[in-house]
Amino acid sequence: MEIDGAVAIVTGASSGIGAATARLLAERGARVVLAARRMERIEALAAELPGAVAVRTDVTDPAQIGRMVTRCLELHGRVDILVNNAGQGLHVPLTELRADDLRAVFELNVVAPLTAMQAVLPAMRAQGGGTMVNVSSATSLRLFPGLGGYSATKAALNLLSQVGRIEFADSGVTVSVVYPSVTATEFHQSLRAGSFAGGGARRLPADPPELVAAAIAFAIETGEAHVMVGPPPRSIVPGGDDPWSGGLARPLAPTPGWVGGHGVATPADPG
Ligand SMILES: NC(=O)c1ccc[n+]([C@@H]2O[C@H](COP(=O)([O-])OP(=O)(O)OC[C@H]3O[C@@H](n4cnc5c(N)ncnc54)[C@H](OP(=O)(O)O)[C@@H]3O)[C@@H](O)[C@H]2O)c1
Repeated sequence: MEIDGAVAIVTGASSGIGAATARLLAERGARVVLAARRMERIEALAAELPGAVAVRTDVTDPAQIGRMVTRCLELHGRVDILVNNAGQGLHVPLTELRADDLRAVFELNVVAPLTAMQAVLPAMRAQGGGTMVNVSSATSLRLFPGLGGYSATKAALNLLSQVGRIEFADSGVTVSVVYPSVTATEFHQSLRAGSFAGGGARRLPADPPELVAAAIAFAIETGEAHVMVGPPPRSIVPGGDDPWSGGLARPLAPTPGWVGGHGVATPADPG
């Protein structure tokens, strides 16, 4: 999808990757709806970006997601791009993983993006298309002891995204997943629980959030299903040469001949 002239909703736009993405999309000519809870931050950013507007949204509240989309449609009459970026870490070993923390992070990292996808879908269908980009994590593509709870939420998001990509394809709606690695944002200071040891002995260098924003823009423009952060951004496929592709070992193609709930059938060629 072309970014210039598009209307985009970015969740978690008050900080880090979301703020960098909102800036990049606005620079490239999109009108951006900035969604987050910290209103002062998104209002300040909206004042800098032409065509941007701030909408206070707690994405774990479906009513607030509904209002976010309604506000976007009232202002612009359409929604072309949804970037599901709001999220939180939960970096504790399984022995310390508390069920209430896991539930809370699951609500934010999985249920909220699904609710937002459902909320924009009718408008995208009516328009004849749209693009959804879900911000996952490279931690969902390999095994990282100590990050099991967080990685599990992102793995769930990956699966919902892949199924959505199939279910929405006939409406012209594309669903992509972007997999950031360690990124220099407030993320590691605002974990739900636990701490980040910086990648252990390997001491992973942190990417700037602008690099993740570039990968999100790449996903929007190309419609690629799975995008790793660059430079430059790159798409990965199950069984591909990229060292992260192994985490996509499940067959990406839907089961041939499968007809699922409410008669949703496997397309002959899912593309
Ligand atoms: N940083 C990393 O190393 C890294 C690596 C891989 C993946 N990621 C993913 O990248 C995404 C963005 O994270 P970041 O690194 O930019 O972290 P960040 O700087 O901590 O930003 C998190 C954003 O999520 C928003 N948010 C949190 N809870 C929310 C809620 N209930 N409703 C609405 N917005 C909410 C925050 O806004 P408010 O507090 O104002 O609501 C903030 O804008 C997340 O999905 C994260 O899992 C990050």
